Amino acid sequence: MKSANKNRLIFALGVALLLRVRAAEAVSLGANSCSASSCHGGAGDKSSQFVTWSQRDVHSRSYATLATARAARMGEALGIPHPEQSSRCVVCHAPLAGAPPGTGADPAEGVSCVSCHALPDGWLRGHTRPDWTHADRVAAGMRDLNDLYTRANTCVACHQNIDPEIVRSGRHPTLVFELDGQTQDEPRHWREIPPFAGAQAWCVGQSVALREASWSLLNGSAASDRAVLTWQGLAWLANRSGLTSASAPHDAAAPSRNELVETMATADQLARRAARAWTPRDTWTALRRLSATQGDFLDAGIPALQQAYRAERLVLALDRLVGALPPAERGAGVSSQLDRLFELAQSQPDFAPAEFAEAMGSFSRLLGPGESAVAGRQP
Ligand code: HEC
Ligand code: HEC
Ligand code: HEC
Repeated sequence: MKSANKNRLIFALGVALLLRVRAAEAVSLGANSCSASSCHGGAGDKSSQFVTWSQRDVHSRSYATLATARAARMGEALGIPHPEQSSRCVVCHAPLAGAPPGTGADPAEGVSCVSCHALPDGWLRGHTRPDWTHADRVAAGMRDLNDLYTRANTCVACHQNIDPEIVRSGRHPTLVFELDGQTQDEPRHWREIPPFAGAQAWCVGQSVALREASWSLLNGSAASDRAVLTWQGLAWLANRSGLTSASAPHDAAAPSRNELVETMATADQLARRAARAWTPRDTWTALRRLSATQGDFLDAGIPALQQAYRAERLVLALDRLVGALPPAERGAGVSSQLDRLFELAQSQPDFAPAEFAEAMGSFSRLLGPGESAVAGRQP
């Protein structure tokens, strides 16, 4: 848990750290400084990162979003006259705002290279040396985004905890962090080494999401009904997936302080473990167990809205896990039943647990004998 705290501190202090980057060092924080054609602005596969990011990745437009009519309306509802200048918005949409002049930082670049790869506090000068390996760069302070645990910590910093008032009165999209899907949705400017395993990324991501949800409730800064429901949904998911020994599935009551502290630690352990090792067996364990949760949705002691938050995490999970199976192991009709589950889980206020339970029963029957087909196989 100590190191989970440390990680968060590193990310939270990201912007503050900028202030330490002195103009005199002549380091540049701007994406443009990475864009020379011989560096990351080339046409070839190996050097086109800048081109991919600036032309296809929404992260390069996240500042511009703050100047749209929609953002202006959100600002009005929240009493923020200039969203593109407000710390409440730029913290995620333009993290380079507030960097001192002379550092080459241009907030208009939105979420740019250094937002994910770490501030160039030591790695920038050497990182172009042909004799440097990936490990050398990481040792010099560049973030090791090849590691799914580090990657999840990086993305979750902007993709989950948000001031509930911004969502409530400003109608900001709700943020649901899921590392597998969100990695697939970001236009890739890299080759995955080792090969990307979607189910593994799902598990690492949801565990990190649970750790962060625990932290935000403990910290009290983002406490809201939604934050509690999100936590309950994630804690239920971790418990039912069978990948962690996390205690009770946390029924109707809001979690106690002790439960939150404990969950933070177990969720962090699970995330680290899943990032180190993952087998096709683990995919099937999670899939089998989660598809057998029909009965939970018939428990009259759990309010329908809480069930809706469980269902949201559950359908995301089933989708990522089924998507990770080799086609031969997917039962016929599974995909269309998954569509049905998505439909039923879509509107939280209208969620009908009994109907969802019934559809889960059919899903489970359609899954077929996949597990036994791989049971004897240990990679
Ligand atoms: C510094 C904050 C920040 C970090 C770090 C960050 N993002 Fe984002 N991301 C944003 C913002 C802000 C948007 C919304 C952009 C817009 O439309 O204006 C966004 C949008 C997205 C979208 C499109 C909308 C969606 O949710 O489907 C994807 C996909 C995405 N990010 C994936 C990632 C992944 C993967 C990582 C980690 C490797 C990551 N992001 C790290 C801030 C961040
Ligand atoms: C915690 C990080 C965070 C903060 C703070 C934040 N946003 Fe966002 N914002 C995001 C992410 C991530 C997305 C993409 C969500 C998605 O598409 O699922 C987004 C999406 C948006 C969108 C929709 C973009 C689109 O094209 O659909 C608007 C508009 C927006 N934000 C405006 C704001 C404004 C205005 C503020 C300040 C009041 C703000 N945001 C604060 C992270 C943040
Ligand atoms: C939203 C987060 C995010 C942003 C913004 C981002 N990257 Fe990346 N980048 C990643 C991830 C994730 C990887 C994959 C893991 C790895 O190889 O380190 C990656 C990989 C890379 C790689 C390794 C390529 C390979 O095939 O091994 C380079 C080089 C790179 N990025 C450069 C850039 C440059 C230059 C920019 C800005 C123009 C940028 N990145 C912006 C997340 C990001």
